[in-house]
Amino acid sequence: MTDLADLEADLSARIAAAGDLAALDETRIAALGKTGAISSLLKTLGGMSPDERRAQGPLINGLRDRVAASIAARRTELEDAALEAELAAGALDLSLPAPPRRKGAVHPTMQVMDEMIAVFAEMGFSVAEGPDIEDDFHNFSALNFPPRHPAREMHDTFFLKPGPDGERRLLRTHTSPIQIRVMRRANVALGAPQFAVHQAPPIRIIGPGRVYRCDSDATHTPMFHQMEGLVIDRDIHMGHLKWTLDAFVRRFFEMDGVVTRFRPHHFPFTEPSAEMDVQCDRSGGAVKIGEGSDWLEILGGGMVHPNIIRICGLDPDEWQGFAFGMGIDRLAMLKYGLPDLRDTFGADVRWLAHYGFSAFADPNPASGLS
Ligand code: DAH
Repeated sequence: MTDLADLEADLSARIAAAGDLAALDETRIAALGKTGAISSLLKTLGGMSPDERRAQGPLINGLRDRVAASIAARRTELEDAALEAELAAGALDLSLPAPPRRKGAVHPTMQVMDEMIAVFAEMGFSVAEGPDIEDDFHNFSALNFPPRHPAREMHDTFFLKPGPDGERRLLRTHTSPIQIRVMRRANVALGAPQFAVHQAPPIRIIGPGRVYRCDSDATHTPMFHQMEGLVIDRDIHMGHLKWTLDAFVRRFFEMDGVVTRFRPHHFPFTEPSAEMDVQCDRSGGAVKIGEGSDWLEILGGGMVHPNIIRICGLDPDEWQGFAFGMGIDRLAMLKYGLPDLRDTFGADVRWLAHYGFSAFADPNPASGLS
């Protein structure tokens, strides 16, 4: 009995004297830890006679509860005192600037994609999309590539394992399959009123997206971005294509005087086909658009081949149009001076912090807010 009273007096004194949380914890372990004084007393209960246990049990348990409560109370006191001391020492200075927070940035490719969409939107184009995993029909056959056409090899296609239907799907090698998907939907709208959700021609869309080719060097990566364009209407001709692309280039590069030229080319899905070059200067190592005597190819285009219009169920005698396709990353490199295309997809946040854009900038280059 006196033992218990002594122990309690001793522990109370040590708790009251504990000057910090570490000292208090030492006392807690000495009393209530596995081999602590009170824990050892509790263990002796097992060896006592029932009468003894009935007498001692409440005493020891009561001691344990009082000591635990006074440790908890002292802990609160010490914590409050520590906070008071910290506040008194002025450690919390609300007038200090907040530590810098890392802000996200818009990737240049996405910025340029948004800028391009903004320019074409002003001309009345809307955005259409298609799947990254395509089938042979949309990526090649419907675009007039015959089965053994060398362009199928040239495209260095990533093929997937054949599906349950036996068909070998592929990662689209260009955004041109979007043309097929849009035209076939438009045809449904013309022929079957129950599908009236689909818009009938005229069609005026751009189709941005990721494309894939097995290729890698300073100007090629296995995944990159293209933007397709398609206009289908009555009486569309090459002059419309030239005007549209000229207007786009001037607006996109924010330069009125950019000179462009069309060079004859071949694509299976356009006839006639052309590539468009912009005037540039390469003499200083970097490419400068809008001056000098060099040319840089930036896109392909032409009049949609009648076979394409036909395979999409439209009558080529009634509907004609033009199409074009351009590399978004390529235009981003040109406009913002990105040196190596591979860094663009290197996922290095330092690169992004340097070349990225604020998420709050207006992508429309004509708005003056960008
Ligand atoms: N699909 C072509 C490519 O990947 C680019 C292209 C050229 C798209 C001419 C077109 C076009 O729509 O008319 O190289």
